[in-house]
Order: sequence, then C-alpha cells, then structure tokens
Amino acid sequence: MRYDFDRVIDRHRTGSIKWDTGARIFGAEALPMWVADMDFPAPEPVLADLRRRLDHPVLGYTRPGVSLKAAVAGRMKKVFGWEVDPDWVLFMPGVVPSLYAAVAAFTQPGDGVLIQSPVYPPFFDVIREQSREAVLNRLSYETGHGHRIDTRDFTAKCRKGQLFLLCSPHNPGGRVWTREELTSMAGPVVEAGGVIVSDEIHHELVFSGHRHIPIAALSPEIGARTVTCVAPSKTFNIAGLSASALIIENPRLRASFKKAMNHGIPGVNLLGLSAFEAAYLYGDEWHAQVMAYLEENRNLVSRETGDMAGIEETPPEATFLSWLDCRQLAASVKDLDNFFTKKARVGLNDGKSFGPGGEGFMRLNFACPRSVLAQGLGRIRDALALRS
Ligand SMILES: Cc1ncc(COP(=O)(O)O)c(C=O)c1O
Repeated sequence: MRYDFDRVIDRHRTGSIKWDTGARIFGAEALPMWVADMDFPAPEPVLADLRRRLDHPVLGYTRPGVSLKAAVAGRMKKVFGWEVDPDWVLFMPGVVPSLYAAVAAFTQPGDGVLIQSPVYPPFFDVIREQSREAVLNRLSYETGHGHRIDTRDFTAKCRKGQLFLLCSPHNPGGRVWTREELTSMAGPVVEAGGVIVSDEIHHELVFSGHRHIPIAALSPEIGARTVTCVAPSKTFNIAGLSASALIIENPRLRASFKKAMNHGIPGVNLLGLSAFEAAYLYGDEWHAQVMAYLEENRNLVSRETGDMAGIEETPPEATFLSWLDCRQLAASVKDLDNFFTKKARVGLNDGKSFGPGGEGFMRLNFACPRSVLAQGLGRIRDALALRS
C-alpha cells in the first residue's frame, strides 16, 4: 500500500511528549521538533496486528514467544547479514533500561564507564545515577563530515575490563561509523578484556550511500565481548509500546545481564511484544517508503539551512535528526535556546544537554510532514532575518 506521510495528524491531547509536554516546555505557539519520534502513522500491518490482539479479551501476563526471538535473529540476518542465534536474544522494555541494567551488570560503583561526548543524554544518566564515573572520549566536529573519533585518546582511556557504551549510528550528529572506526574502538576494549554495550536503536534509519555494521559482527572476538541493543521503536515509529531486545552471544555476559535485569524491571507488555514481531516481519513496505520520505526531508533541511547566516549543517548519514551547528549564531544572540523557542517559535533540543561538545548546537527532528518541516524552517529563517 502507498502511505501518505504528507498527512498532518493532530497529536495534541494524546499524552505525546513531543507535542503535549513540548507545549508546556516551549510554549503552545512553538512547533515541536525535538523528541525522537515521527509524526507519521505506524505501519498498517502493525496496527492490524494490535487490533487483532485486542480481539482477544484477556490481557494477562505474557512472555515473548520463540517466534519473536526468531524474528529478531532473522531480521539481523536479512538487514545486516549478521548471524544471530535466537538463544542470544533477551527482551527489555526499552534501550535506556537496558543501558541501566548493563552498567549495573558489568561495573561496580566508582568504576569508569567510557562514552563519547556529545551523546544521547541518558548515557550520562545511567552512569551518574548508579555512582559510576563517566570517562569522556570527546568527539571532534568538522563541517561537511560531522563527528570524528580521537582514537589515540580512546585507546589511552581504555582501562582493564573497561565498559564502553557505544552509540551506533551516533545520536546526535547521525554518523554511521565505518568498519575502520568501529574496529578502532573495538580493538582496545577487547584487548583490555572489557565489554562493549552498543546502542544500535537507529540502525535501520540509514540513508543511501551508507551502511550500518553491527559492531558485534566485526569478528568472533568482538562478538564475544559485545552486548547489542536493538529495537523496532525508532525504525517503525512505535516508541510508545516500550519494546526492545538485546543480543548477547557470550553466555557469561548474558548470565550477568540477566541477573541485573531481574531487579524489578518488568517485561515487555503484550501489545509491545505483538507489534515488535509484526513490525520485523511485515514492516518492510512502510519502512522503504518512510526512508525515502525522510531522505527528502533531510535534503530539504540541508538546502534551507545552506544559506542561513550563522547556521551550518552537515546532513546526517542516519537518524531523522539534524545537528545544527549554531556556534556562529550563538555569538550574536544572548541565549541560543531562547532564540529558537521564543523568536523562531520552534522547539528543538539544546545541544548542551548532549554533554561536552554539544554547546552551540541544536538538534532538529525532521520526521514530520514536509509542510510542517517547511513551516519550521521558515520560522527559523524569519527569526534570523529579523535579527539583521
Ligand atoms: C541513541 C538512543 N538510545 C535510546 C533511545 C531511547 O530508547 P528507549 O525508548 O527504547 O528507551 C533513544 C531515543 O531517542 C536514542 O536516541
């Protein structure tokens, strides 16, 4: 079927964080272009599956079936050519809870956990809130390329038994790490007898010309030291269903993780489980169409920001999130966040919240109908014109 992503769907009063919480944070007039979900309907086979499940009136405790584990393994093989045994698959009600559990499983209070800044803010939270220390490998940023890794610094910071939380593809900035980059990170961690926890939630939101490689698939040695977090939530726009999975080949790491996840973390709810399987098995038609639409939106952001004074943009290789380099603009406005919220009336994520290296950047979510995106970009253009 042909999906209509141009259709504007009113999400107000649905409890949407992007729209309803956004109205409280940015003001009712601001167009919310922040939290990473899409303003598009979910794939029809997923909606049909949920309706079918609700035809059964009993909604009791439910556990993932073997068919869901097989669906996860099958999708990794189909999309990435990665051989996964269904027995390696565990389920969690989200990638962020998985990151929490991984830090609990593989480190002790006071231990250092290696992350690359700027990064998705919960990477900092899962470390700080469990009394561990964030060890930062700062990414550098170059217009026209995006983030780069300081490999020498990374290697120097890798201690014995090091836990490394990787974001791949990277949020923010949307880099799809290359084989060489992934190898340069995996090598020192494996050598130190450490563990890589790879958050690959954005792995199917990759634009043409780029290819995501699961870090665990690089070699058997790396696979044996890696915990991979995957989910249908970003790919198929079903984040409200709180469903995700982990792929852990090494039985010892899997056992440690299972122990940590038994501490009061609930399983995935039955609708989440059902939608997860339907999305992985029957979501491809929707996914192909949404990627084509998102790529056009990404290109529109690049074209429009191309001549905006004070803003530079490097098109993301993956994700539906543009990382706007507003450092020049920041030098001429008192408060960047306030400029976008109050003057331009668009609600974006302030780069500061992504940690060191995020200052002077703003993150814009372009997963919305093109007319809405054009409106948001127009508001930014108008606010810039009023300034000069
Ligand atoms: C890199 C990354 N990890 C995890 C999440 C959230 O995952 P979940 O909703 O499954 O906890 C996001 C959402 O934006 C993300 O960008």
